[in-house]
Amino acid sequence: MSEEQQQLKRRVAAAALEYLEEGMVLGVGTGSTVNALLDQLAPWVPRLRGAVSSSEGSTRRLRELGVPVLDLNEVDDLGLYIDGADETNPRLQLIKGGGAALTREKIVAAAARRFICIVDQSKLVERLGRFPLPVEVIPMARNLVARELTHLGGRPVHRPGVTTDNGNHILDVHDLAIDAPEVLETAINQIAGVVTVGLFARRPADLLLVGSGQGVRRIEKPA
Ligand code: A5P
Repeated sequence: MSEEQQQLKRRVAAAALEYLEEGMVLGVGTGSTVNALLDQLAPWVPRLRGAVSSSEGSTRRLRELGVPVLDLNEVDDLGLYIDGADETNPRLQLIKGGGAALTREKIVAAAARRFICIVDQSKLVERLGRFPLPVEVIPMARNLVARELTHLGGRPVHRPGVTTDNGNHILDVHDLAIDAPEVLETAINQIAGVVTVGLFARRPADLLLVGSGQGVRRIEKPA
């Protein structure tokens, strides 16, 4: 990653910290942009009640910082989730899962009242699908799911050497023209053996913070 890109990630992560509140439980995503947030979280540590984490990697970083990591089952009201994305369209629908953490990310996003997505400007697209769509699958169903994804018009590729935090495999689906994200999300969810598709269309982000050379742009989810 270039120093300039790292700088954009640090900048957008700093902007997200403005949304933290005293005593809150924070949902924490996964990836290099979230790591840039965790790099700046230290002053907030004594003021947070804890965090719900979306991956073993983020859990380790939170524990190193001294943040209590809570089981989502113990948290009735999760006010805020902050996470990155691999792509976002203008409706704040996302492709996620480049870091293989999509299942827990989708769970935490579903549980949160507000989802703030933090990206650098390279992630903005008009139509989703340039980034291969990650799908987490039960290992024994990998080829079955791959055939079904081919019927949907994609070109699934097994991500070599990757086992998710849940013990599953990832198929990265290339060449999909995602014109109807909600429809495709539902269709892929219906395939036996699919755990999670990294399309966050039915539950998009509520607020997008975009880091660019000019500063941080705030984009609310369209009504
Ligand atoms: C993790 O599985 C992903 O969903 C990440 O949120 C996404 O890949 C963004 O990662 P970066 O912040 O590293 O670009």
